[in-house]
Amino acid sequence: MGILEGKRILVTGVLTDASIAFHVARIAQQEGAKVVLTGFGRLSLVERIARRLPDPPPVLELDVTDTAQLDSLVQRVSEHVDRLDGVVHGIANAPASALGGNFLHTPWPDVAAALQVSAYSLKALAVAALPLMSSGGSIVGMDFDASRAWPAYDWMGVSKAALESCARYLARDLGPRGIRVNLMASGPVKTMAAKSIPGFEAFEGMWDQRAPLGWNLADPEPPARGCVALLSDWFPATTGEIVHVDGGAHAMGA
Ligand SMILES: NC(=O)c1ccc[n+]([C@@H]2O[C@H](COP(=O)([O-])OP(=O)(O)OC[C@H]3O[C@@H](n4cnc5c(N)ncnc54)[C@H](O)[C@@H]3O)[C@@H](O)[C@H]2O)c1
Repeated sequence: MGILEGKRILVTGVLTDASIAFHVARIAQQEGAKVVLTGFGRLSLVERIARRLPDPPPVLELDVTDTAQLDSLVQRVSEHVDRLDGVVHGIANAPASALGGNFLHTPWPDVAAALQVSAYSLKALAVAALPLMSSGGSIVGMDFDASRAWPAYDWMGVSKAALESCARYLARDLGPRGIRVNLMASGPVKTMAAKSIPGFEAFEGMWDQRAPLGWNLADPEPPARGCVALLSDWFPATTGEIVHVDGGAHAMGA
């Protein structure tokens, strides 16, 4: 018996087979879940990638900034599963001007775009999926430690701080419905999102130095397993929490 046996999980954020969400979907299926994916923009690419999963799942279009797509999500998901036990938020994006050391000069519309896609979207997705979660469940988002300022991460760092706060308020408001809301804070992993951050290489040396367990930037398995654990019934009394899956780097001094 897998730890997600019989669970129905909606997974957002698959773009390539390097996406952390791809590995969440893969491990979730291996642990017994029925998975539905959503894809943004390059849908045919996501559909092609979905076929590499052990049990190729349906792929629904979802731009988290598109109200019509959010409003029709329940009806579209219902064509494949009758309820959701878990929702995975693996979504982040920021305009180029919001990353890479331009912090003092990023215009508000670009900051607003980063915040909407990367933080507000956790609330938007949770509310969109809510009618399918009447028996409770688990919502899991993906974080990068926002307790400190990083090189190059800039307004994405501010967006992650907003995501952390958003997860706590969602935990407050959805707890009475039996829905847990937690974040998995990953160390750096080489994905499309990471490659779009100029200066991402700087993190490599930092994690080599800091993570007592070591850290492999080419291995999305540990953060994906962290998400699957949070989706499972093995964190039944945990909500509003940030679980660090970073080799221990966050707990060390310089
Ligand atoms: N890669 C890392 O080093 C790292 C570390 C910590 C946290 N994270 C977080 O993990 C999550 C997944 O990122 P990843 O690293 O796997 O990269 P990725 O590029 O594979 O995934 C990012 C996803 O966001 C989606 N997306 C962007 N704009 C969207 C929109 N408007 N609507 C819907 N989806 C949209 C993209 O389609 C893509 O699937 C992100 O929240 C990211 O910040 C990544």
